Amino acid sequence: DLGTYPFHMLKEIDEQPVVMRRLLAAYTDENGTVNLSAELTQALAAADRLYFVAAGTSYHASLVGAALMEEYAHMPASAYLASEFGYHQPLLAGKPMFVFLTQSGETADIRQVLVKVKAQGFPTLTITNVPTSTLAREADYALNLHAGPEIAVASTKAYTAQVATTALVAKALGVAKHVQAAADWNLAHELGLIAATQQTLVDAKDTVHELAKSALATTRNAFYIGRGLDYYVALEAALKLKEISYVQAEGFAAGELKHGTIALIENGTPVIALISDPVTAAHTRANATEAAARGAHVLRIATRSLAEPGDDLVIDDLNPSLAPLALIVPCQLLAYYASLDRGYDVDRPRNLAKSVTVE
Ligand code: F6R
Repeated sequence: DLGTYPFHMLKEIDEQPVVMRRLLAAYTDENGTVNLSAELTQALAAADRLYFVAAGTSYHASLVGAALMEEYAHMPASAYLASEFGYHQPLLAGKPMFVFLTQSGETADIRQVLVKVKAQGFPTLTITNVPTSTLAREADYALNLHAGPEIAVASTKAYTAQVATTALVAKALGVAKHVQAAADWNLAHELGLIAATQQTLVDAKDTVHELAKSALATTRNAFYIGRGLDYYVALEAALKLKEISYVQAEGFAAGELKHGTIALIENGTPVIALISDPVTAAHTRANATEAAARGAHVLRIATRSLAEPGDDLVIDDLNPSLAPLALIVPCQLLAYYASLDRGYDVDRPRNLAKSVTVE
């Protein structure tokens, strides 16, 4: 039911704060303890490396999820594209465990990896929005994303639910492993703050719409840049813009721009700089300035304590490790308005299906 919304995508973007609170209710108690089953926690703790295997947006969430596992659970983790992993399996750790992030739970590229690694006897966890799906049923363990049905082809609330759920798993695993960083992490409190921050961002639609009009109205290409987790958000932001507005977009590690891609910058080329990481903020800013010096139309989106006069959008401060949960929201809105203003069917972009059941 769309209610007063013109498209499901906008409704689903708006639902993200509610999804954060639903995940808190589902996975945490009043003390902020994360409740995972003892069996799942033990299986995770028994692994010596986690392999996230996913596709598209869920792969972008996996990149963040793997980073959270390393930071808060001191668990080596990496993210792989399912379509590559299935045919080029890397040399595995001694005790691997596989984590499949998948909104639909039906992605064929992931299923073929699941079948192969199960045949090798490795433990598997599917984190999905559809608890009755094939991948949920066939894995040893399954967790629900609690995002509610996602109708728009472009994934939005499932992405933020995936990042938040992997954060919850990282916290539970880190506590089980007696990692101090996990014990000290008040994740439940932070996710509550993030829900509020997401709300301020979805309430800033008019501002983001103006930015989309100024930078993306007629362009044929666009670049998103960031470092660290901001880079992972840049990848997802670019995918959102590509799939619904048909603008050729790329997400770049900001430091890589000068190693080749900057050759593509012309007068008016949109470059959207994502700045939420105190360690790299100055460097990303310098990269944005280099692009501007070559004529780029630069938009800067920054968290408050890193913001500078003239930035285009300022986001409440938050734990940089969870920044993707907030930073992606204006990027989703930029893509939405770029598509809407070009007159496209935002929910049903050409050539795409909601779940991809062929390899
Ligand atoms: C992009 C999008 C796709 C999916 C990908 C994986 O907005 O929705 O990139 O993320 O096809 O799908 P799931 O998560 O269902 O495995």
